[in-house]
Amino acid sequence: MKNLLILLVFLGMVSCGNSLTEKEKQEYINKGNDISQATFKALSEKLTEQMKLGGPAQALPFCNVEALPLTQQLSEKFNVFIKRTSDKLRNQENIPSERELEIINNYYKLISEKKEMTPIVEVDNNNNKHYYAPIILKANCLACHGKVEEFVSVKTDSIIKSLYPNDKAIGYNDGDLRGIWSIEFKK
Ligand code: HEC
Repeated sequence: MKNLLILLVFLGMVSCGNSLTEKEKQEYINKGNDISQATFKALSEKLTEQMKLGGPAQALPFCNVEALPLTQQLSEKFNVFIKRTSDKLRNQENIPSERELEIINNYYKLISEKKEMTPIVEVDNNNNKHYYAPIILKANCLACHGKVEEFVSVKTDSIIKSLYPNDKAIGYNDGDLRGIWSIEFKK
């Protein structure tokens, strides 16, 4: 009986430590939305600038070199870890964790059930808070992530292959799930 009581108290502590109130959850969702939107804006402004200067041939090497440092700068600014990841990677540095892959697969499941995809906030075993949200591919992404010859020129394809010999992030359609935002809040 005493052991059971201790176990119950322990379980209570664990669940308290690892759960957020609805209000806290909403706050983290709002923060995550703001941070992912700010990061998206920063990345796409630079990308658009480079695309205007010289199309994918100019913008690809830029993404190759600048996307991660830019994300890192914003991580420091917002005091979080910002990551973009996918089940079909271009850059191996963006490799998903086991949990991130599960989140991606859950989003695919929602798509197949024609349900809405919404951001997720959860607490891990170390009491770190995480935000996840879907990244949907848009028409202006197709020049580098669409179907070869239809949207990605043969020249662009060869640049992609030379920079990323194991690239999987090609052949997408407008509206596809490209990956997720994964933001970890620092304590
Ligand atoms: C000029 C070509 C280009 C365009 C246009 C482009 N991307 Fe990318 N994308 C890249 C390159 C290069 C990488 C790998 C570098 C990185 O970001 O780490 C990448 C990586 C990514 C990643 C990280 C996961 C991975 O596979 O490494 C996501 C997510 C992503 N792109 C989504 C998008 C979306 C959404 C758009 C449209 C809003 C877009 N991209 C437009 C070239 C492009």
